[in-house]
Amino acid sequence: MTLPETSVHQNGRTEPEKTPLFAADGVTVRFGGLTALDGVSVDVRSHEVHGVIGPNGAGKTTLFNVCCGFVRPDQGTLSWRGTRLPDLRPHRLTRLGIARTLQGLGLFRGLTVAENVLVGADRFRRSGFVSALLALPRAARDERALAERAERAMAEVGVLEHAHASPASLPYPVRKRVALARALAAEPELLLLDEPAAGLGHDDMEELAGTVRRLAERMAVVLVDHHMDLVMSVCDRLTVLDFGRVIAAGEPERVRDDPAVVDAYLGEEADR
Ligand SMILES: Nc1ncnc2c1ncn2[C@@H]1O[C@H](COP(=O)(O)OP(=O)(O)OP(=O)(O)O)[C@@H](O)[C@H]1O
Ligand SMILES: [Mg+2]
Repeated sequence: MTLPETSVHQNGRTEPEKTPLFAADGVTVRFGGLTALDGVSVDVRSHEVHGVIGPNGAGKTTLFNVCCGFVRPDQGTLSWRGTRLPDLRPHRLTRLGIARTLQGLGLFRGLTVAENVLVGADRFRRSGFVSALLALPRAARDERALAERAERAMAEVGVLEHAHASPASLPYPVRKRVALARALAAEPELLLLDEPAAGLGHDDMEELAGTVRRLAERMAVVLVDHHMDLVMSVCDRLTVLDFGRVIAAGEPERVRDDPAVVDAYLGEEADR
């Protein structure tokens, strides 16, 4: 039997640890001869900001792809609130309340900002294709409710004024916020952010840090990013990957000084 751990949140609260919201256990992913993940285990607690860091090619995006069902693990399991998930298809995981942003943007070019964000709200669609086609009142109500969800998500990250714009016409940092709004429109309980600060300047990054902390009041956030100052300042705990393996895990201060982590990053510097 393992004793319950305690988790100290950044606001100083100390609480007994309960069953994690989400856990990946012993996940292995192979792409042909390459082992991208090798027995990786991560657990994410409700309302924590959990950083996944590691050098390029360490397996961070692959881990996200497993967590949202884009990549099927060769071995290992996922669980939600302590129950093993039997079905890892993307729509099942979305329905549970897992949403993600993509490394880069992944916005649809032919759609407006509002339409892009609406795609994220789709898990709440109730009326089927036929009632939408016949424009039944139920379908109209459903559409309105989805549009309101999308509006709330856009307002939350400050892009509502761009609702009718094409993403391509907007500066990159604004497009990054649109991508975040799309994930938020799903009202996730677990939000996976793959390099949300890539391409952002100092001010946008500070704002992002504030947004992430605010979001953690109502959801768990897993964050992959290469900006150590951002990661260290917003994360409650970190998991460090290198060559597809977990080389360190724990609170940021402890992980930062871990010799294995220092070595992994020094190796990366030397490769440049
Ligand atoms: N679909 C794929 N087919 C083959 N190899 C892949 C595939 N996806 C990822 N890989 C390989 O798996 C390893 C892990 O890649 P991954 O993208 O998960 O790393 P990462 O930690 O996200 O890196 P980065 O910091 O550069 O985004 C890399 O060696 C990569 O080349
Ligand atoms: Mg990546």
